[in-house]
Amino acid sequence: MTQHTLFVCILCCSSEIDQQQTTSNAGQVLFEHLSQSFASSDSCEAIRLHPVRCLGACSHACVVAFAAPNKLVFILSKLSATHSVPDLLQFSGQYVACSGGKVPFQERPDAIKKGIHAVLPPLPIEPKRWALQCEHLSP
Ligand code: FES
Repeated sequence: MTQHTLFVCILCCSSEIDQQQTTSNAGQVLFEHLSQSFASSDSCEAIRLHPVRCLGACSHACVVAFAAPNKLVFILSKLSATHSVPDLLQFSGQYVACSGGKVPFQERPDAIKKGIHAVLPPLPIEPKRWALQCEHLSP
């Protein structure tokens, strides 16, 4: 089975999260919400959440990236740490199901349509090598 990965920057900061009320920054809050939602969703079994320390779009928090061997890479930014979770969950299922990751624009949830930061062409990479490369990105 193809390994799909949702990278989530856990260092992103946003004024959305009041840091006087929590020690977590927005990226960490988003990652925790996604972890809880993925754990209770059957449709997300085929995609792995992977925390990373920066995706290079720091002034556009929160930032995530969908990637898989031989599929488009979607980098999404300006995501709400709390409100974007249902849309990210929906898109996760669409991304896994669509050949080449080519989820038709009209079918994408609103947070995905508005949050596109970049879309990269697929990297021609074997699933085994992909899994090894993801292991090296752990925070
Ligand atoms: S800190 Fe999140 S993208 Fe850099």
